[in-house]
Amino acid sequence: MPHYGDYQNQIYFAGLGGVLPKIPVDYATLVARAEQAMPPHVLNYVQGGCGDEHTQDRNRTAFDHWGMTPRMMVDCTQRDLSIELLGLKLPTPLFMSPIGVNGIATQDEHGDIAAAKASAATGVPFSSSTLSNDPLEDVAKACGDTPAFFQLYTPKDKELAESLVSRAEQAGYKAIQITLDTWVTGWRPRDLNTANFPQLRGHVLQNYFSDPVFRSRLEKPPEEDLRTAVTTWAATFGKVLTWDDMKWLRSLTKLPIILKGICHGDDARRAVDEGADAIYCSNHGGRQANGGIAAIDMLPDVVAASGDVPVLFDSGIRSGSDVVKALALGATAVGVGRPYFYGLALGGAAGAEHVLRCILAEADLLMAVNGYPTIAAVREAGVKRQA
Ligand code: FNR
Repeated sequence: MPHYGDYQNQIYFAGLGGVLPKIPVDYATLVARAEQAMPPHVLNYVQGGCGDEHTQDRNRTAFDHWGMTPRMMVDCTQRDLSIELLGLKLPTPLFMSPIGVNGIATQDEHGDIAAAKASAATGVPFSSSTLSNDPLEDVAKACGDTPAFFQLYTPKDKELAESLVSRAEQAGYKAIQITLDTWVTGWRPRDLNTANFPQLRGHVLQNYFSDPVFRSRLEKPPEEDLRTAVTTWAATFGKVLTWDDMKWLRSLTKLPIILKGICHGDDARRAVDEGADAIYCSNHGGRQANGGIAAIDMLPDVVAASGDVPVLFDSGIRSGSDVVKALALGATAVGVGRPYFYGLALGGAAGAEHVLRCILAEADLLMAVNGYPTIAAVREAGVKRQA
């Protein structure tokens, strides 16, 4: 039976023929290479966070205070990383978090398609952002047989929201992730210092520009008058959502609804009561609010409050061991964000695929060595908080 960890054999054997990995295997070198390769405005946008980036940094370093204890004399020759999520049987607990500037990660500006191809190649579900350089229908096709999720930034224009969700349903997405923490953009000094906000330059708005409702709001189509199209987008971008909107959101689709950005146990309980099908614990990678708690440290409360409802998690995942720790703390599925973006920037679909394969290989080998043959065993083993 093949295992994700076999990827290391592939790398070592290729080395015997003098072939080294084109893209680094570890996160630190990956970032260093991406820093050399990416245009500054894209790099700043992706790397930057809110305020002095304390929350963003804590998201990462907080993983260090959670530690695993290995178990011995357990047969781990066969590992099963599969999970069930919202009726889907998935080969691994990994998914790709939505990243609204995937489109400009690659030089051909079709980074969303490249990310979707990485998803198709690995079986790791892609979350297709509302902000995209290719229409959601094309992105869904590129995901092949791997199930995908559509991430909704809910516009103020309710008819437009309805149209986006119904297009996602038609296109075959398996769930709608509704992002709750971004009705307004957080204070991002790196982007402010360079006065750069990609959407205002007309990037990643193809889901809007291809939408019949959005187009009906314009006198001239975006191809003829980009400036007005962009200002129309800016005016409708972020609806303030409250619990009163849950009924309306539920009425938009039969697909499962995942609420993204839930970090407090009380909010998780309320979300479950209001009919959310899954909770997505995330602080947006520290891009939206500073002065917060590391996302991984908020996960246990959210899991406890969510009962049987699945909890997706992201913010700070950089490696396979991070993935296993998040699972041990109760996440049902774990999202990779910035790492796959850097893979895309360095090597397109193949680059993102490599990054996902490295993370999966490390998680699989860690489970093998630590005596955890299944995700259930990971949960049972748990993690301990170290000083
Ligand atoms: C994001 N994130 C995000 N989230 C979302 O719901 N819709 C989106 O379009 C985007 N766009 C986006 C762009 C960029 C450049 C980044 C880095 C992040 C947040 C994303 O889904 C996820 O929560 C974070 O990436 C997790 O943090 P790390 O692990 O990537 O640091």
